[in-house]
Amino acid sequence: MPGRQLSNANRNSTELDMHLHLTHDDGVRARFMIDLKRRVNLGMGAEIRARSESTHEPALARTLGHPLSVKSKTDRKALIDVLEQTHVYKAWACMTYISQGMMWEIVDGVLDHDLDRLQKAFDFYKTNPNKIGSLKLNPNLKVPKNILNTEIHRQPGGFCYETHADDITSGARYNGGGLMYSAGKGRKPVAGKSGGDWVAEQVHKLYPDFAPKKILEIGCGTGRNTTAYPKAYPGAEVHAIDCAAGLLRFAHAYAECNGAPIHFAQMDATALDYPDESFDMVVSHILGHETTQRGLPKWVSESWRVLKPGGVMFHLDVTTQPGFLKLADLVMNDWQVRFNGEPFWMGWADADLKAIMRDIGIPEDALFAEHMGTGGPMGQWFCHGARKPKTWSSKVKRAA
Ligand SMILES: C[S@@+](CC[C@H](N)C(=O)[O-])C[C@H]1O[C@@H](n2cnc3c(N)ncnc32)[C@H](O)[C@@H]1O
Repeated sequence: MPGRQLSNANRNSTELDMHLHLTHDDGVRARFMIDLKRRVNLGMGAEIRARSESTHEPALARTLGHPLSVKSKTDRKALIDVLEQTHVYKAWACMTYISQGMMWEIVDGVLDHDLDRLQKAFDFYKTNPNKIGSLKLNPNLKVPKNILNTEIHRQPGGFCYETHADDITSGARYNGGGLMYSAGKGRKPVAGKSGGDWVAEQVHKLYPDFAPKKILEIGCGTGRNTTAYPKAYPGAEVHAIDCAAGLLRFAHAYAECNGAPIHFAQMDATALDYPDESFDMVVSHILGHETTQRGLPKWVSESWRVLKPGGVMFHLDVTTQPGFLKLADLVMNDWQVRFNGEPFWMGWADADLKAIMRDIGIPEDALFAEHMGTGGPMGQWFCHGARKPKTWSSKVKRAA
């Protein structure tokens, strides 16, 4: 079974680890579904792209009387209408939808027999007098509607699902589904490495002299990347926020279980509770493609506001931008927006991060927004961020 946090229940399991324990039969179902997803994502996806480029796009360009542009929403819409009529696209759409539903059924099948153990493990970490981090929830937080009311990725109940105080179900679901989803896209985890390690490496390449002492991750979810930061920057104080309580509970237990001292808090990334200039480094992992077009500039602005002079913000996300992706891929992603629980993918893909950062007042020579990574096991990402000049004095106002 691929995945770094899914373990077979018969192998070295402990009552207190925060991995999902799979039975033999869970493993069989998961392997089948991941194989199916790979055939659909990689095999059928490639076929749609190839046929689109060789046949449908040239024909459509002749009909429209101009070459198709990957940046034109009208051309994208015209190609949607064409591809939707083809058998391979219809089969791809059906199988994408079905395999996503199967994924969540398999995760819930694991939780049917493993949730009680995970819940008890959370209770242990929450009340452990020797714990090394903390968890601060805010029951009065106004959770942004796009997270509160949306089943992102079609995760049952969404990120804010909870049936009782202390419920960790949404976090357990998120982690199980996330690992299977990545495996189904062909991503292979690298043992002992997470996206956090990758970000630390990129930050070091960009700013070799930089050694943050106080770090914040926004939109940390279950903290699967956060645990890398205390390792990468020994002695640094690491904080992480998210708006979904169930994910944060899981994150707290996961960090404690892994010996990572992290302070988790429930907060809205678009209106952080921290004072100006509180952190040396602010990071995020795949937050942007799950925020609205209204929310995006607000959290970018907030992460700049709470950055100390000389500090670095580094935000990593998916590579769905037109130009980086082909027209046929944009059509398939548009389908994911309409039918597969990814409502913000296209808004993210079309966002101009450089313009957003300029509007906030970030100096042009301090910012970046580009594709990074090799496409190897740690993947390729669209990253944006900036380093605040050491002489920075004018305060950026809190986003309206
Ligand atoms: C795709 S998940 C990524 C989670 C985690 N960073 C990871 O890599 O697994 C996006 C996360 O952003 C959080 N999020 C979205 N909008 C937010 C907001 N305005 N404030 C705080 N968290 C937010 C969601 O609750 C979710 O946990």
